[in-house]
Order: sequence, then structure tokens, then C-alpha cells
Amino acid sequence: METPKSSTLFSQFYVLLVVFSISCSASSSPVQDNFVLCLNNQSSKIPFYAPNTPFYSTILQSSIKNLRFLSSTTPKPQLIVTPLDDSHVQASVICCRKHGLQLKVRSGGHDYEGLSYTSDVPFIVVDLVNIGSVDVNVEEGSAWVQAGATLGEVYYKIAEKSRTYGFPGGTCHTVGVGGHFSGGGYGTLARKFGLAADNIIDARLVNANGEILDRKSMGEDLFWAIRGGGGGSFGVVVAWKIKLVPVPQTVTVSMVSRFLEQGANALVLKWQRIAHTLPKELFIRVQLCRVDTRMRVTFQTMYLGTTDQLLKEVNQSFPELGLRSSDCAEMSWIQSILSFDDFPKDGALDVLLNRTQTLTRFFKAKSDFVKEPFSETVLRGIWKQFYDADEAMQPMMFLSPYGGRLSEIGESEIPFPHRKEYINEVQHLAWWDKEGIEASNKNIDWLRRLYGYMTPYVSQSPRASYINYRDLDLGHSSNGTATYAQASAWGVKYFNNNFEKLVQVKSKFDPDNFFRNEQSIPVV
Ligand code: FDA
Repeated sequence: METPKSSTLFSQFYVLLVVFSISCSASSSPVQDNFVLCLNNQSSKIPFYAPNTPFYSTILQSSIKNLRFLSSTTPKPQLIVTPLDDSHVQASVICCRKHGLQLKVRSGGHDYEGLSYTSDVPFIVVDLVNIGSVDVNVEEGSAWVQAGATLGEVYYKIAEKSRTYGFPGGTCHTVGVGGHFSGGGYGTLARKFGLAADNIIDARLVNANGEILDRKSMGEDLFWAIRGGGGGSFGVVVAWKIKLVPVPQTVTVSMVSRFLEQGANALVLKWQRIAHTLPKELFIRVQLCRVDTRMRVTFQTMYLGTTDQLLKEVNQSFPELGLRSSDCAEMSWIQSILSFDDFPKDGALDVLLNRTQTLTRFFKAKSDFVKEPFSETVLRGIWKQFYDADEAMQPMMFLSPYGGRLSEIGESEIPFPHRKEYINEVQHLAWWDKEGIEASNKNIDWLRRLYGYMTPYVSQSPRASYINYRDLDLGHSSNGTATYAQASAWGVKYFNNNFEKLVQVKSKFDPDNFFRNEQSIPVV
């Protein structure tokens, strides 16, 4: 059964809900009432939802991907506004500012630490679920994408118009472009074309005065900052203009798994030495995980070409992998999106339009960037951490290759600075299904121990991290009020030398620090 598109659902009910919401909000806090009055003065058609009204919880929970932030004790917004157009976003900004309310903007809701829908202080969520159109211009090789669209919607709409264009973003179709492009956006095409943020050519942004700016009117500094400087610091992006990239008619995807006793370590050792040096068309990602008591490594490959070409490349550079044609499947680029997202490649493409993901679990993640391959001793140490994890835990590590186009782009071209000095990026993950503080503590403690163990073997000064894999352990402030020195704790890890410029841009364009979150760019 096809799930109705949530945007349509929300639009249909909004008139009814405005009425419910207003009546409920009358008995709520004065600030909330004033905000609602202000919103209605701007336009009578702005949908919003107050707590204890129908659909408030449904909408709040609709895009939460991490069950850690779905508990009864998670702070909830005073109202959720779901704008239908840019003017509604402008009204939300103006009214939040006027009434001293913190605004959190949510696009796909995938923030690893829930920052788009939680806060320590009273707040409003502006959820862009209804602003998600994707307008592809094949002649120009570009598309305007509204910020509430998901990656799945972007990929689907591109493929609907053309089978020779694609876009280099992440692999999970429910991720929102609002947050994803704001922080970088890494996927299987990154070695060939760079990050999503490297391929943005214009944007529309609502600033702290409620004005709409495009690339020309915002100027190159602010346009620079919003492409990788992290969501939530500079304004509400309402739309991006992206440059489409050429993809061949046939790509090849393969998956090869080996357990430790089958020589998996030797393969990882070799992969580390070559993955970043391979032709840009060849992307091989590595996943380390535990299956019951056995340790398994999986090599997931995406190649921009045919199986024959892939086998030739791999047999030359990585013969130890033992890749056979029976491990490979040829398909179109859009089918490779399905395949990397765990859908059958021959299945219906419209699964990519389904925003609601049933598989949501508890998780915590951390990231690292690597300059030198790990030795076998280090690998053994990682496996020991996996062995030591409690039976109920599901420890995992992803090693994603760098090099290629990622290395050619200068460190300060956009705020994402992790470029030619790195050979790969590591994502450390703990997943779990059991509710409660005990399970949560056990998993998070384990992840922190693993991260501690990795310290000598990954980048130093700074120990680089990826903002899209947000990690509040790196430091955070209450209510986005960090000083420059406090914010450097995470800012330098995420942005290295670009942190300085981000602070300058922030101080110039949002001097009152209206757009803020627990890890936002500070004002000086
Ligand atoms: P969400 O709506 O939670 O926003 C994230 C942050 O951006 C928040 O601070 C929010 O306020 C801000 N924000 C959102 N919309 C904004 C807007 N319009 N204007 C300004 N600020 C805005 N990453 C990757 O690089 N490659 C990958 O393959 C994946 N895969 C992946 C899978 C899964 C299951 C998850 C949970 C996450 C990923 N990610 C990823 C990480 C992902 O890129 C990151 O979490 C993004 O910030 C998510 O963007 P959303 O819009 O979904 O999040």
C-alpha cells in the first residue's frame, strides 16, 4: 500500500487545523498567543499546530529518525508551523523575532542530535514539509529544489526528466536537502563530482529581518557560508539551485562481504592504501560490523561504467578483493540510488517519494577523518572493541573513500574543509532497539570508548569531524549562546580554518544571533 505523501496530507488539513490550533493556543502561554496573533496578522493562511491539538504529535514525530529524541522527556515545541510558501517562512521569522521565541527549522529531521526539533528554551519549529517542489531544467542542466524536499524526491524528479543527469548527494532517500546541503552532503558520486554543497549555484534564504535574498542580493560571503557551514546559523534556506552532473546510462553496483577468518583484515589494509587513489569513477565504501559473534567487512562499490570495465579496474588495483561478475549488477544511476538505500533495484522508483521511514531506531554516531592507513594492530584493536560490546549491541563503522574530485577542491572554497590531506572518513555508530537510560548509556559509553581508542590513529589538531554527523560530545552551548572560545571546541573540528570566516559572516549578517542552536556559529 502506498503511503500518502505527507505534504499533501498536511495541506489538506491545514484550514481545519488552524482553527483547532488557535482555539487551543488561547489557553496557552501569552508568548504563544502573541506569536499566533502576529502570524495571523501576517497571513490568515499559515498552518500551525499547538500541543494537545490533533496532528501535533503526528507532525512532530513524522520525520524524527533517532528514537533518542522521541521520549516523553524530550523538550517539545510550543507550536509547529508548516509554511505553504516563502512568505509564510518570512512571517514565522518576523513573529519569532518580535516575540523573543527561538526558531528551529526542520527539513528532513535527520539531525543526529535532534537539533531541528528540540531545544532547552521555549521554541517554535518551522517544518518545511509543505515546501518541497523540485523543478528540473534539463536544457540548463540545473534544478531549483525547495528546502523541504528529500534527497529521494530530488533524485526521482531528476530521473523522471533525464537518464543522463544525476546529483552527488547522500544515500538515504528520506534525508532533507535543507540540512544535508547546508552541511556538505557526501554520497557515491563524491569522488567524481564532490559534495552536494560543491554543486550548488544559487539559493533563496530568509534572513533574520524576514527578507528573502538570492545569491546576488545576499552576496558571495553569505552564499559561501550556507554551503557547508551547517544549518541553523545563517537563516532559513527556502530553496537551492543545484547543478546537475552527467551520469552514464549504465553504472555497476557490487557488494562483497568477508569475515575475519576469510582474510577481511588484509582487504581493509589494502583498501586503505588504494581507495583514495582509484579513478574518480570508482567508489568503494567499507562497512565493519559484528554479526552475532563474527566480525564482517563489506565492500560496497559504485562504478560509473559497465561490469567489464569495473572488473578490469578492480582486478588491476585491488585483485585481493576477488571481485567476480556474479557479484556485480549493471543498472541505471537512479537504480543505484535504490540499491544503496536497500531497495530492490528493479522495484518501483516511487518508493523514493515516501518520506516516512518505518525503520527508526536509537543511535549515536561520531566521525573522524584519516590521513594515514591504520596498521593491522589498530584494526585488531577496533575488532576488540566490537568483541567487547554487549551482546545486544550493534556496533558498526563506515569507512568512506576520499580523493578524486574531493581532493581537487580547495579547503576554503566552501566551509567544508576536509579535502586533499585525507584518505578516508570514518563514521562510528552504535544502534540499539531497547528503550531506557540503561541501554542508552551502555551504547553511548561504548561508542565513546571506541572514539577514545581511535584518538592516536586519526587526524589531530584539529581532530576533524563532519558537521552532518553532528556530535554534541564535541561541545555545545545552552540555547546557542556560546562565546567564540567555547564554539571553537566544535567549530574548528567541523570547519578548521574556515571557522574564522564563518564567525565573521555570522557576525555581519546575523549580529543579534537570532538563528542559533546548540552548536551554531557564534557572533563576536
Ligand atoms: P534536519 O531537518 O534535522 O536539519 C539538520 C540541521 O539543519 C538542523 O540544525 C536544522 O535546523 C538545519 N536546517 C534544516 N533545514 C534548514 C533550512 N532549510 N535552512 C537552514 N537550516 C536548516 N549525510 C551524508 O553526508 N551522506 C549520507 O549518505 C547521509 N545519510 C544519512 C542517513 C540517515 C539515516 C541519517 C539520519 C542521516 C544521514 N546523513 C547523511 C546526515 C545528514 O546529511 C544530516 O543529518 C543532515 O543535516 C540532515 O538534513 P535534514 O534536513 O534531514 O535534517
